[in-house]
Amino acid sequence: MIADFDKTMYDAFRKTIHDFCGIYLADDAYNEFTQKVRERMLQLGLDNNYARYYSLLGSRTDDELRKLVELITNNETYFFREPSHFRILKMHLIPEILKQKREKKIKVWSAGCSSGEEAYSIAITLHEARLIYGDFEAQVIATDIDRAALSHGRKGHYNKNAFRSVDVYYLNSYFKNPAADKTYRVIDERIRKMVLFEYVNLFQEDYGELIRDFDIIFFRNVSIYFSKNKIREINKRLAHTLTENGFLFVSSSETLHHNFGHLKLVEKDGVFLYQLKPSTPVTDTQPIQTKTIETLVKQPARKSNTPAPELRTEVKPVQFEQIFKMFKNGNYDEALSHVEDNLRHNGQSIPFLVLKTHILIGKELFVNAVDVCRQMIAVDPVEAESYFLLGLIHLYRHEPVRAEEHFRKTIFLKNDFSLAHFHLASVLWNTGYKDDARREYRNAVRILENRADASLSFIALAYSSEYIINACKQYLK
Ligand SMILES: C[S@@+](CC[C@H](N)C(=O)[O-])C[C@H]1O[C@@H](n2cnc3c(N)ncnc32)[C@H](O)[C@@H]1O
Repeated sequence: MIADFDKTMYDAFRKTIHDFCGIYLADDAYNEFTQKVRERMLQLGLDNNYARYYSLLGSRTDDELRKLVELITNNETYFFREPSHFRILKMHLIPEILKQKREKKIKVWSAGCSSGEEAYSIAITLHEARLIYGDFEAQVIATDIDRAALSHGRKGHYNKNAFRSVDVYYLNSYFKNPAADKTYRVIDERIRKMVLFEYVNLFQEDYGELIRDFDIIFFRNVSIYFSKNKIREINKRLAHTLTENGFLFVSSSETLHHNFGHLKLVEKDGVFLYQLKPSTPVTDTQPIQTKTIETLVKQPARKSNTPAPELRTEVKPVQFEQIFKMFKNGNYDEALSHVEDNLRHNGQSIPFLVLKTHILIGKELFVNAVDVCRQMIAVDPVEAESYFLLGLIHLYRHEPVRAEEHFRKTIFLKNDFSLAHFHLASVLWNTGYKDDARREYRNAVRILENRADASLSFIALAYSSEYIINACKQYLK
């Protein structure tokens, strides 16, 4: 600890920041944070007097607090991040919204837009959609707490880092290349005009007239550093700014506390997002409950398309455990025949289907394993285990892009699925996204150290939690 800047002082700073903008600085952010505070104090000529600097944060204008927050925000972004969201926007949401509305107008909010790449990707998609569905009015409101990022967005100049996920067609159609040395590109004027950049702190008291009646909100990669309470608060406020049937996207890797009790989780063409249904009251309700292994093993088995409750039979955990032992001992054929017996007699029970998939993966019968995953999705479309197993199958088949997609879906549905974080981290690491990978390794460690993971696959696979924690820590070194 630095003299003067002890734990009490750190706590005071982080509370002020948290109250102001929701960002909660973790204990291990201490060194980085103090470094930034020192730099700022140096600029102000405040010689290591932290208490004096702290007193500036409480001023009425909030100006110094805004500056400090700008130093700690993470502005990482790029065009068409998570391309599947833009595909869904174009192919599903836009036509659905236009069909429902009398006024042919779509209003979208990029909440936490950073330097504008997300907002412009939305605008390009809306513009392209006019070629398919005919003309309609489109407006994108891009807001952030970071004023430097907003100026960058208004200017619309971007270097090659921002284009890592852009289709060549979009690149040539919507970005000019004015610099002789080709170091940056400029957003097309037609697209720029569709986007309005504004300062909004998501926790400010009143959002004003502009921030309302959105058909769609993109709230992606913003709440990663928010505390649970602040996420709950912001989710409710975002829901209030949506129109009836409006949609909300969050990133597939940031669902750690996505407590959207007041919005419905919906699936469009394999992508999960949220929707404000007319019947959904915008109140705080309980988060989606994830199942524990006990409830999974003891739950009544379900036969697809057989709703009659009398057909459901209790699965005996002991029976499951015996078969599970066979599987663990490598007696795949014997285990498989018992699993099939159970499925025949007791219906499509998720634990048995999970076990069957693991056995088939063990036998390297990947095509059959995929079929069982599809069966599970038919039984329960929001069962995280199915997507995790699909991720594993793609991993074994050396298909990292598809594996990543499925691990992200798994985490979306069950944020404490440590193995999904672990495998997603390894895919990201091997494809060069080391910072993102580190975040996922940290997530896996945090979940395992809190003993929060109750997924079935964790028990079925050969890993112990200590093994995973150690493996993660090796990478984090
Ligand atoms: C990692 S960027 C995400 C950019 C974009 N949404 C994306 O997914 O690529 C997160 C942004 O959220 C902004 N942010 C953080 N807290 C905020 C708050 N309380 N109000 C508004 N913006 C905030 C940060 O300034 C930062 O630019």
